[in-house]
Amino acid sequence: MSYSKEIVEAVFSDFDKKRKNNEHQRNLRLFETYGVAPELKAIDYELSTTGLQILGASLQGKDGLEERLSSIKQRNKELQEKRAEILKSHGFDIDYTDMKYECDKCQDQGYVNEKMCSCLRTALITRQLESSGVGQLILGQGFENFDLTLYPENTRKDMSCIYEDLKGYANNFTKNSPNLLLVGGTGLGKTHLSTAIARAVIEKGYYVIYETATNVFSDFENDRFRDRYSGEEPVSSKYMECDLLIIDDLGTEVITNFTVSCLYNLINTRLNKRLPIIFSTNLISKEIVKLYNDRITSRLFGDFEIKKFSGCDNRKIK
Ligand SMILES: Nc1ncnc2c1ncn2[C@@H]1O[C@H](COP(=O)(O)OP(=O)(O)OP(=O)(O)O)[C@@H](O)[C@H]1O
Ligand SMILES: [Mg+2]
Ligand SMILES: [Zn+2]
Repeated sequence: MSYSKEIVEAVFSDFDKKRKNNEHQRNLRLFETYGVAPELKAIDYELSTTGLQILGASLQGKDGLEERLSSIKQRNKELQEKRAEILKSHGFDIDYTDMKYECDKCQDQGYVNEKMCSCLRTALITRQLESSGVGQLILGQGFENFDLTLYPENTRKDMSCIYEDLKGYANNFTKNSPNLLLVGGTGLGKTHLSTAIARAVIEKGYYVIYETATNVFSDFENDRFRDRYSGEEPVSSKYMECDLLIIDDLGTEVITNFTVSCLYNLINTRLNKRLPIIFSTNLISKEIVKLYNDRITSRLFGDFEIKKFSGCDNRKIK
């Protein structure tokens, strides 16, 4: 599991709030019952001294300890029963004033015996889905609703291979997975499968960012004019750090010397760190060579597995 600091902090703070709120809600319920049945207060006070009574009993020595302990236990049981009766007689459930948790397994601690509870895992994944940039796309564009029959027969076999490859890529993803370049005309399912990968890899617990090339470069641009001494981390550093970076629509950004140098730096940094990138683009090889410099194209063609999408525009067909 790896998540950005912001995600982990946000989720931990949610859990903290959740625990405080559980406590607050329980106190409200408790005071509600004290309002209608004030005799509960004395019972609760006595129950709260049980620990002290046990300690006192032990300090009196071993002689007769068992009897003393069993009488404390007996008294405790009676008080609990009386308490339950009072609650019932006022129409409350007998567990009305117990702590209530969203997750009973970990009592909203996020961990059970030092192992991460499934509720914490789900919270991290949900946060990561929300902040991955995939947004609403993720809902309608999964592997499960990718329809191979939309492709004309002569391309279906190739597209079926790509589909299986990409599904396998997502299912077997590790930080050392290969880089991919998804190429092909408009409406062939590149974005659809990119977001399907994003979702599956996020659900495996990885830190994934999906963003269009235009937005990525505008973040770099903004960082350029950011106050260097503000102490804030550059927005673009996440693109260098995430486990999987998916950049959609490469080539639709306004290409300048600055964006080309950012792209080179981004590819190079991630290659050195062995962190994968997936690009998707409408550009054909010739255009890539024309738009970007040799240092970029040699990496794109040398260090990326190329997946060529074919068919007719599924946007129109659908
Ligand atoms: N094989 C498919 N099965 C189901 N829906 C598909 C398929 N291919 C594409 N679509 C749908 O068609 C629309 C266009 O597909 P998508 O956005 O993935 O195309 P694209 O290759 O990214 O095109 P562009 O190059 O214009 O960005 C989307 O709504 C997508 O869900
Ligand atoms: Mg697209
Ligand atoms: Zn839990």
